[in-house]
Amino acid sequence: MNTDTTTYTRPALGLGSAALDEQEEQAAVETLRSRNLFRYYGDDPENPPTRVTQLEKTAVAWIGTDYALAMSSGTAALETALAAISVGPGDEVIVPAWSWLSCVTTIVRMGARPVLAEIDDSLNLDPNEIQRLKTDKTRAVMVVHYQGVAADMDKIIMSAHKLGLFVIEDCAEAPGTRYKGRPVGAWGDVAIYSFQHNKPMTAGEGGMLVTRDIRTYERAVRMHDLGQYRPYHHATTPPQEPAFSGANYRMSELTASVALVQLKKVDAIKSHCRILQQKIRDEVGELPGITWRTMPDSTGDFGFEMYFYLEDPDNVEPFQSALNALKVNCLPRTGTYPQYYRENILTGRAHHPAASPFRDLKPWPAPGYRPEDFPVTENLTRRFIALPLGWKYTPADATHIAHSLKTVHQEILG
Ligand SMILES: Cc1ncc(COP(=O)(O)O)c(C=O)c1O
Repeated sequence: MNTDTTTYTRPALGLGSAALDEQEEQAAVETLRSRNLFRYYGDDPENPPTRVTQLEKTAVAWIGTDYALAMSSGTAALETALAAISVGPGDEVIVPAWSWLSCVTTIVRMGARPVLAEIDDSLNLDPNEIQRLKTDKTRAVMVVHYQGVAADMDKIIMSAHKLGLFVIEDCAEAPGTRYKGRPVGAWGDVAIYSFQHNKPMTAGEGGMLVTRDIRTYERAVRMHDLGQYRPYHHATTPPQEPAFSGANYRMSELTASVALVQLKKVDAIKSHCRILQQKIRDEVGELPGITWRTMPDSTGDFGFEMYFYLEDPDNVEPFQSALNALKVNCLPRTGTYPQYYRENILTGRAHHPAASPFRDLKPWPAPGYRPEDFPVTENLTRRFIALPLGWKYTPADATHIAHSLKTVHQEILG
């Protein structure tokens, strides 16, 4: 082990992006050479496009749903998921206060009201919040599997379905994560993935929607392609739904060719991270004053970011600085922070005043959109430290992290 920080090199971060190599390069070049960059047709009828279709088929087999629809981003997929289950003006969607921007903006863009929920110490939606926040306007619950750890899906599905609510799984940060042996994305009514740069698999941009429901699939196809349902999809399932005005959220063949190679690497990235995570936990052992993030199912988590809580929030900054001085990366790899601090919630605006689902809540921010309404989320998110792991991390890095953690613990809490 190298304990000398003058010679130790800080490991490079990155998951799918760090695993990009000549395989993606070759796939992208082949796609370019095919001159078929649009999923539905090209110039040569003898040589039809295949990459997006292949990506969808591979995803269906990997996740275990019946349908997959590749899209331009995870945000596009979230908006499409909401549209597919007919969420609209007057509706409410329960969403964890601790979640990515898109989880709220997509609900607002559909004209519905995001209802912010507390998280629990798994940093995911507290299942008890569903019953507490349900009103006669609630249509759906959006579950976010934050940074590779599955939410407690048994409790969430049971509670949501008992109340007649749809469950949307946001798996943007958790492709490959499993809960009770089954992949996330296969639990809810509809689920989404993101292939943005920071994610476990990436194509720079890109997203995917999966579902088991034919009607949801057809409406998703229509939403992502200007309301159309092209002949390609007729072969999967004949049209039954009326057309409506949708958006253009289609994925290109070029994106799909890269995503397809990356999809085949996710399990290897996951097992690499899990091995390192376990090594760190074993080498650190128990440290008084440190509590690790709760995992509803520790056998299935991705392991790319380890979180622990300190008891006193005032110790977080000195702890991070000391770890950082030892060349340990210790900031989360996501821009997640509580939605009630985001600019778009502070203004309560949509693109037009009449389109805002908050327009009648005065004064603004109303209860349910202020920090004081979320004592649990505030408490948890002010006390954690994140230890990101990555594809380029080695067992020696894991040992360095464990050793540094013990040293800093002794310095600050000892
Ligand atoms: C939890 C979560 N949901 C949705 C998204 C949106 O994905 P994208 O950036 O592909 O639009 C992201 C990623 O940025 C995310 O982390």
